[in-house]
Order: sequence, then structure tokens, then C-alpha cells
Amino acid sequence: MKIMLGLLALGFSLSTLASPVEAKWVTVDSKILSQIRPKLNKSAQPLFSSEGATVVKLTPREIEHLSHVIHHDLHRCGGFIQHDSFKEASEALTSQGEMHFAKRAIFTDYSINQQSVASPMVEQVSEKSLREMILKLSSFHTRYYKSETGVQSSQFIRDTWANLSRKRNDVKVELYQHRGWPQASIVMTITGSENPEEIVIVGGHADSIVGMWGGGTARSPGADDNASGISTITEVIRILMNSNYKPKRTVQFMGYAAEEVGLLGSKEIATSYKAKSEKVIGVMQLDMTLRKGTKNKDIVMMADYTNNAQNEFIGRLIDEYVKVPWGYSRCGYGCSDHASWTANGFPASIPFESTMEDINRSIHTSNDTLESAGGDASHAAKFAKLATAFVVELAD
Ligand code: BES
Ligand code: ZN
Repeated sequence: MKIMLGLLALGFSLSTLASPVEAKWVTVDSKILSQIRPKLNKSAQPLFSSEGATVVKLTPREIEHLSHVIHHDLHRCGGFIQHDSFKEASEALTSQGEMHFAKRAIFTDYSINQQSVASPMVEQVSEKSLREMILKLSSFHTRYYKSETGVQSSQFIRDTWANLSRKRNDVKVELYQHRGWPQASIVMTITGSENPEEIVIVGGHADSIVGMWGGGTARSPGADDNASGISTITEVIRILMNSNYKPKRTVQFMGYAAEEVGLLGSKEIATSYKAKSEKVIGVMQLDMTLRKGTKNKDIVMMADYTNNAQNEFIGRLIDEYVKVPWGYSRCGYGCSDHASWTANGFPASIPFESTMEDINRSIHTSNDTLESAGGDASHAAKFAKLATAFVVELAD
């Protein structure tokens, strides 16, 4: 168990917790550690450093001292994290490093030069087919990850994508079965013709939920959250297949299971991609594209847990292909599956339907319907255009 402590909380809680128990592994800012080293026991050697932070094993007394020094001598705001094992501490540092890397690194050349291929495809986006798919998905009683209809809805998405790609022998559509729950994720792969090892991913979550505890049996249409994202992806697939589009890089479309209960499906997939050292060039997350909530910003990019350079590229794609006003907002936490990719060191973005302040208040209720989000899919159509352009410009 990690205990993240704010500075003040730290000062108080440690003095009460400090008992002559065993030492703990602490991750702390490397500069702070070097400043207080003279005051620590000789045994307090740095064990591992990454991205400006260090793992060190400290006794409860030393932890108390560290807190005191940060507080009083250095006048610093910030905290440190205690861990129960060296493994946990070093993994926390590594993932911090991955996160830093995933946000700052530049993974490819982001020039826009595929207009002749992408523009005719962007023009094919159909509000009607988007709307029909949203209605079909939200007609499942619930897509809750543990429910029978949640399992069936993922099979329905698999069947829909497989049917759209039935004439292609370079395309496969698979269910990705998870260990801990019955709902599968869906993965469609268009194998690249020139650089098949380089992967461009567009994904969104396939599940829905009502209320804080899910209530596996409650009606949960999840039209905006996230039938809209899956329908947006389905529309991109329809257009790519209709155009017999063959990318140079591999393109994958994903419908993640069990997002609403802690990003579980995407976590498993992104972790396995990292373990296999897959070369992921870019990830776009589509989660909520239905309801236009912000007046002068049609598409809003979440600036946190995302890759800066790719966000900027997507902004230019909007100007070039969608021609609507756009801007930035922040979730403030890892609010959707893009965060699973970012945590594993991959470049991800989430173009979103509104700013965080103007969020659709009907999500996670039985009232998350097409009707309550405006009654048509014209807002989602902008995201289908954007995602089509993203695939063509990045995969070629
Ligand atoms: N679609 C939401 C994410 C979202 C909500 C983004 C509001 C921006 C504004 C997503 O399905 C969701 O509900 N996520 C959870 C967090 C997740 C880690 C369980 C949430 O926001 O509570
Ligand atoms: Zn949600």
C-alpha cells in the first residue's frame, strides 16, 4: 500500500505513527534527500534513482526527521511516499519516469501531408450511421463489465467490426479475454503494409455503469459514456473499409472492457504492450463525444496524462480537417483509458466533448441517453472526422 501524504498531513501523521517498527522504503525528491543526508544515519544510503527521485530505506525516526526538515528547514511544499517494499518503491519511480516520458517525448514526425487521401474519407462521415450505432449500443440493458448483457454487448461490437472488415484478409477482429471478469475487450488490427511493427491505436471503453457501485442489474444506457466513443470508432472503421484503405503502419481499434471500475481492461492491455516492447506511435482515446457542452470549444483536449506533442498535432488536425474551435481542459486525474497508456510510457491523447466544468451531468445515470445529450450525433461526427484524419496522417 502506498501512502501519499501532503506535507502538513505528513508532519502530524508521522509523529503519531512513529513507533519503533521496521524501516520503510521512501521515494523522495533527490535534491531534498542530498540536503538532509548529513542528518541521517550512515545506513540511509540511496538505493535507486530515476527522474529526480530516489528510493531510500529509513527508520520511522528518520522519516519523522525527513518530514521535519522538509517542513521547517527547506520551506518546501511537497511530500514523499512511503512503501512497504523496495520493489513497490522502485516500481513507483519507474512508472513516474514512464509518465514523464510519455508526456514529453516526441514519438514520430507530426507533419500533415495526407490531404488527398484523408479529405475524401473525412467527407464520408455520416451522422445517421453514428446515431444508429449509439442507439443499438445503448439499447443493451447495461454494458456493466460483470453482467450478461455486458458480455453480449462486447460480442456485438466484435461482430459489427468483423462484418465491416469481412472482405479484407489483412484485417482481424478479436475478443481479448481478461482473467478477472467476464466482459472481453475488442481489438481490431489492420496490419501495416510497410511498417507493421509500428502501431497506431484508436480506442474507447465498451462498458457502462450506473451509480458509484455499479449496481450490475440497473438500467445503464451509457449513450454518451461511452456508446458515443465506440460508435465514433465504428464510423471510422466503416469509412476506412469502404475506402479500401491500407495503412503503412499497423492500425488497431480497441473497445476496452471494465473502464468504469478503474481502467481495468486498458490497464491489462497497455501493460502487456509494454512487457512485449510494442512500438506504439500514438494512441487516441474516444470517451464521450456526443454532447456539446462548451460554447466556443467544440473539441477539448485534456492536457493532463497526455502527450504534449501529439495534442498539438491533433489541434492542427482539427484546424485542417474538422474546422471547429478547440481548446484545452484538464481531468485532474487519470479519468479514462488514455491514462493506462500514459502510465506505461506510450503517447496518448483524449479529445473530449466539453471542458471539465461543462461535463454532461447525466453520465453514470439511467438518463445517459441520446435524447438527453441533444438527440442527434452531429457532435460525434466531428470526432469521427478527427479520428479518421488522425489514423491516415499517423499511419502513412
Ligand atoms: N467517461 C468518463 C471519464 C470522464 C468523466 C472524463 C468526466 C471527463 C469528465 C469515464 O468513463 C469515467 O467515468 N471515469 C471514472 C474514473 C475511472 C478511473 C473509474 C471517473 O471519472 O470517475
Ligand atoms: Zn464513465
